[in-house]
Amino acid sequence: MSHSELPTGESVTVESVTTQTEQGLYVDPKALTNHLPALHYCDEALYIEQVSIETIAKQYGTPCYVYSKQAILDVYQAYANSFASLDHQICYAVKANSNLAVLSVLAQAGAGFDIVSRGELMRVVAAGAEASRVVFSGVGKTYGDIEYALTQGIGCFNVESISELTLINEVAQTLDKSAPISLRVNPNVDAKTHPYISTGLKDNKFGITHEDALAVYQQAAALSHIDIVGIDCHIGSQLTEVEPFVAALDKLIELIHSLREHGIELRHIDLGGGLGVRYIDESPVSIEEFAAALLPKLSALGLTVFFEPGRSIVANAGVLLTKVDVLKPTAHKNFAIVDAAMNDLIRPALYQAEMAVIPNVLPNAGLDTNGTKAWDIVGAICETGDFLAKDRLLSLAEGDILAITGAGAYGFTMSSNYNSRPRASEVMVSEDRHQLIRKRETIESLYADEILWQD
Ligand SMILES: Cc1ncc(COP(=O)(O)O)c(C=O)c1O
Repeated sequence: MSHSELPTGESVTVESVTTQTEQGLYVDPKALTNHLPALHYCDEALYIEQVSIETIAKQYGTPCYVYSKQAILDVYQAYANSFASLDHQICYAVKANSNLAVLSVLAQAGAGFDIVSRGELMRVVAAGAEASRVVFSGVGKTYGDIEYALTQGIGCFNVESISELTLINEVAQTLDKSAPISLRVNPNVDAKTHPYISTGLKDNKFGITHEDALAVYQQAAALSHIDIVGIDCHIGSQLTEVEPFVAALDKLIELIHSLREHGIELRHIDLGGGLGVRYIDESPVSIEEFAAALLPKLSALGLTVFFEPGRSIVANAGVLLTKVDVLKPTAHKNFAIVDAAMNDLIRPALYQAEMAVIPNVLPNAGLDTNGTKAWDIVGAICETGDFLAKDRLLSLAEGDILAITGAGAYGFTMSSNYNSRPRASEVMVSEDRHQLIRKRETIESLYADEILWQD
């Protein structure tokens, strides 16, 4: 059991789905899928919506990312409903999963988007979304990025430095446009998450410090082609508690009041993304609890409210399917070498992320099944860091299909071609329909743009 403190001070108990033994960790697949709306077992076989994993693995091969359209829409809708009492815009953070099908489903549902590169903006536009509903974050925007965004009619630049501010003004002047901006304020709040995904501390490269923000806003107000529209922060990712969000909001409110005193009126406040998800036994606050903690303070401001959620919208809508290629039991450790690897899913190697690995077909007696052993689920890449999970109690045979859950966010988008491995295919499921939304790369395509040295 794990416990979490709600904003009300109430303590909720989260049913654990794991058993830790001396050999390793057992993740109960049935109990886990009870928490994952897109997945369920029927007659011992794993399904995503109404499509069996076996059907997908047979038709599209492995490794393969599979996403539930309904699961994506349900979370988006939970955000929209929870903040319905306010003027709001949910700007899905494209970096979490940037497949055009995912973006178009969200655009049709009314989402805005948070982007961090020209490439992401081009994707959003290609998916049919309006640039006016896009906020452009990121610390290193170039002249070309800004020019493209202004030409498309970007909704807002989230500005991270004075240098960027002056560059935006210069580009806007050249294009004879007024650039909508907000400052990304770094509120120096500890998000209490993995250091690599913590962004709101003084030591992080992001944003303008809380102390400098007023002066930078005043500088912005004096620039001829800048239109100040908002204030922004993003303090980190996979936050399971609401307190850091409230602390950041308090800092922003302080600033909004002092901006008002100096005659600078804003139209929106953007609280970024970062709400965590349950991968295995985590107990993040729900979207409803998150909203309940923030709404009273936000309502009093009278501004439009923006959020930039990524992970919480897509993580649990997706799985990565992989096949067991080789079983290699040794005296010290048992290795299951699968056809997905760190190039497909880098979260375990990069962030020590623990993700659940569940079988496509349930063994007869769960943990007590004859043949259950502790396995390291590893890829075939020449790196010791190439693992997807360690010491997991599973009953495995070569050829088995496994599903790595919670893989819809920061899965495919962080994948690479390391070891000249083509990136996986992606499939979307809706009810009983399934559709390829990205072809598996061919090996030839990996070197198609390379040029032999000519003597
Ligand atoms: C500026 C910004 N907004 C939003 C997000 C999305 O965060 P998450 O996926 O945790 O919701 C990120 C991710 O790091 C980000 O950098």
